[in-house]
Amino acid sequence: MPEKKEKFYLTTPIYYTNGLPHIGHTYTTVVADVIRRYKRMRGYDVVMTTGTDEHGVNVERAAKKAGVPESEYVAKMADAWRALWDELGIPADEFVRTTDLKHVRTVQWLFKLCKENGYVYKGHYTGQYCIYDNAFVNDTKPGDNCPDCGRPLETITEENFFFKLSSFQKPLLDFYKKNPDFIQPDTRRNEIISFVEGGLKDLSITRTTIRWGIPVPGEEPHVFYVWFDALTAYLSAVGGPDFEKRGMWPADLHLVGKDIIRFHTVYWPAFLMAAMLPVPKQVWAHGWFLMDAAKMSKSKGNVVLPRPIVNMLGMDALRYFLLREVSFGQDGNFSYDALVTRYNSDLANGLGNLASRIFTMVEKFCAGKVPDRQDDVTFSTEEQQLDQICERAGFISRTERPDSVPSRYDRLDFSRALEEIWGLITNIDTYLTSSQPWAMADDPNKRKRLERVLYVASEALRFVAILAYPVLPNCTEKIWKQLGQQQPLGGQQIDDLKWGQLNPGTPIRKTEGLFPRVDKTEAIERIESMANEELNPTPAAPAPAASAPAATGASAAVATAPAVSDKIGIEDFAKVEMRVGQIKTAERIVGADKLLKLTVDIGTEIRQICAGIAQYYEPESLIGRKVAVVVNLAPRKLRGVESNGMIVAASVGPEGRPVLTGFHEEVEVGARLK
Ligand code: MSP
Repeated sequence: MPEKKEKFYLTTPIYYTNGLPHIGHTYTTVVADVIRRYKRMRGYDVVMTTGTDEHGVNVERAAKKAGVPESEYVAKMADAWRALWDELGIPADEFVRTTDLKHVRTVQWLFKLCKENGYVYKGHYTGQYCIYDNAFVNDTKPGDNCPDCGRPLETITEENFFFKLSSFQKPLLDFYKKNPDFIQPDTRRNEIISFVEGGLKDLSITRTTIRWGIPVPGEEPHVFYVWFDALTAYLSAVGGPDFEKRGMWPADLHLVGKDIIRFHTVYWPAFLMAAMLPVPKQVWAHGWFLMDAAKMSKSKGNVVLPRPIVNMLGMDALRYFLLREVSFGQDGNFSYDALVTRYNSDLANGLGNLASRIFTMVEKFCAGKVPDRQDDVTFSTEEQQLDQICERAGFISRTERPDSVPSRYDRLDFSRALEEIWGLITNIDTYLTSSQPWAMADDPNKRKRLERVLYVASEALRFVAILAYPVLPNCTEKIWKQLGQQQPLGGQQIDDLKWGQLNPGTPIRKTEGLFPRVDKTEAIERIESMANEELNPTPAAPAPAASAPAATGASAAVATAPAVSDKIGIEDFAKVEMRVGQIKTAERIVGADKLLKLTVDIGTEIRQICAGIAQYYEPESLIGRKVAVVVNLAPRKLRGVESNGMIVAASVGPEGRPVLTGFHEEVEVGARLK
C-alpha cells in the first residue's frame, strides 16, 4: 500500500449532448467507476472525471430543430446525463461541461501557450468535413461519405489557425518508446505508432464556419475546433491553469473507446507538449459493445438503454455482465438473452444462492452468530478441502501475485478477475454440498467440525465481498452488512486483507435475497417494453418507467425535448387517425403500477389499449366512457402487454397528470375526429 496517499486521476470521454446515454457510454463510465473503487481500496486518493461535450455544429442543428437557444438545449441535456449517472450510482467526482467558464478559460489559456511557443499559425483549409464526427476527413473527395460513420461529408473552406502537428512526429515517437505503457492495449499502440510514422500533417484547430464554440480571444469569428476544446476538459476538471494547486494532473488514465484513440494519443499529447505541460500517463482504448454486429447508434435504431435493464435486474447485474462477458479491449455483442442467462446462473444461482445458504445455516445452527474458528479440529479429508478454500481465498487476494484478483484489476483484466472470484464461489459451494454441515447438526461430536465449516465458508464469503466490491458494490455491501460488519465496505484496504479477520460471535443479519431468479422470456419482454417506452414515450403515460426514480421523468422529458416549433401542414395532421372509442373493460396490470389495460370499442372493432392513467383513474370508473383514440398507431408492447392504439389525454401540472378527453354532446362510437 502506498505510504502517503498517492493520487490517481482517471477520466471517461466527455459525451456528446445530442443524444442520451446508451449501454456503450454506460460501459466506459462503469469501468471508470470500477477502477475508482478498486484504487480507493488500494489506498489511492482518486478523482474520476466525466462530463459533456457541448459545442459544435451538431448541437447548433439540434438546438435549432428543438427551437431553443443552444445554451438552453445543452443545459437540459447535461442535466439529463448527470441525472442518469447519479441514478445508476456512478456519479463522477468532477463533471465537466465544455460550456463552463472555467473550461472556456482553460482552452483559451492552452491555445495561448501553444501560440507563444510557436506552434500555431494562421492559414486556409479546404476539406471534406464530417459534421457528425466533427472532424475533417483526410483522403476523401467531394461527394464521398464519411469512412467512419458512412454519412455524407461536406466540403468546407475557411480561414483557420493551424497547429504544427507535423513538428511532433519525432517527439511523439520518442515518447511512445520511452513510455511503452502509454497506449493500451498493445494492438492499438502498434496502430498508432504506424500512423505517426506515416507522417503528421498540421491540424486546423479553429473554425470560422461554426458559431457555437469557444471564441478565440481577439480573433472572432474564430471558435475552437471541438477536439481542441473537448480534450482540454480533462485538464479544466482538475484546476485548468492552476492545475498544480490541485495536484491531480497529469491524468493517470484516460479511458476511451477505440473510435477516439487517435485524438487522445496523437493530438492530445502534442497539444500538451507544445504548451510544455505534463502529458497523461496512459490511454486505454476498449472495444465496442455491438448490437446485431453493428456499433450502436441512434440513427441505426439499435441502441440498448441502461435504465430498463437496471429497473428489471439491478445495476450490479448490468455491471457484472458488461465486465464479465467481454474481455476488456475487445469488441463484444450485447444480447438480452446472454444478460439474463448470466444473471440467473452467476448471480441468482451463484453468488446470491451461496450467501443465502451460508446465512441460513449460521442462523439455524450457530444462533445467528459467526461460529468459532475451531482451528484445532483434527484434519480430515473434508477439512483439507476446506483449507484449500482458505488458501485459494488468500491466493486470489494477494496483491503481489500476477494471476490474483488485484493484479487482474491492475491490468484492467476484469473478466478474468471475476472468473477468479467465481472460481472461489464455486469452490465454497461445492465444499458445503460435499461436507453437508446440516447433517452434523444433531451430532455433538461433530459440533466443532460444523462450526469450522461454517466459519470458513463465512470468512471466504467475506473475501468474495471485498474482492468483488469494485464491480458489484450494491450486493457486496449487503453481504458485508449481513456479515455484521460496521465499517463501509468501500473503505476496506485490499492490502490489509488477511484470513481469519472475521470475528467469531459477530451477529449476522440475514435480510432479503440478493438476486431473485427471473423468467428469461418475461424479463426480456419487460426490458424491451420499458426501453420502447423510454424511446417513444406514450403521451398518455407521462412517466412510463414505473419503478424508476424521479430522474426518469426529467430525462424522458429531455429525450423528447426537441419540442418542434415548426408548423405542420394539414397533410401531416391527416396522417393521424383519431376516432371516438368507448371503453368496455379496464383492469390493472400486475407489476406496472401506472398502466391500465383497456378494451375499447372503436366502431369497427374492439381494441386492446394500454394507457398510463392507473394512478389517476379507477378502472371501474372508466367503463362506458367515451374517449378520443388514435387508431392508426403501430401496435407495441408496454410492460410486455400489447397496446393497439392510444387514448388521448391532456397532460396537466408539473407531474403531467393525465386528464382524458371527453365530449359534451352525444357522439357515435367510431366517429372520426378532424
Ligand atoms: N465527445 C467525444 C469524446 C470527447 S473526449 C475528449 C465523443 N463522444 S461520444 O458521446 O460519442 O462518446 C464516445 C465514447 O462513448 C466512446 O469513446 C466510448 O467510450 C463510448 N461508446 C460509445 N458507443 C460505444 C459502444 N457501442 N460500445 C462501447 N463504448 C462506446 O466521442
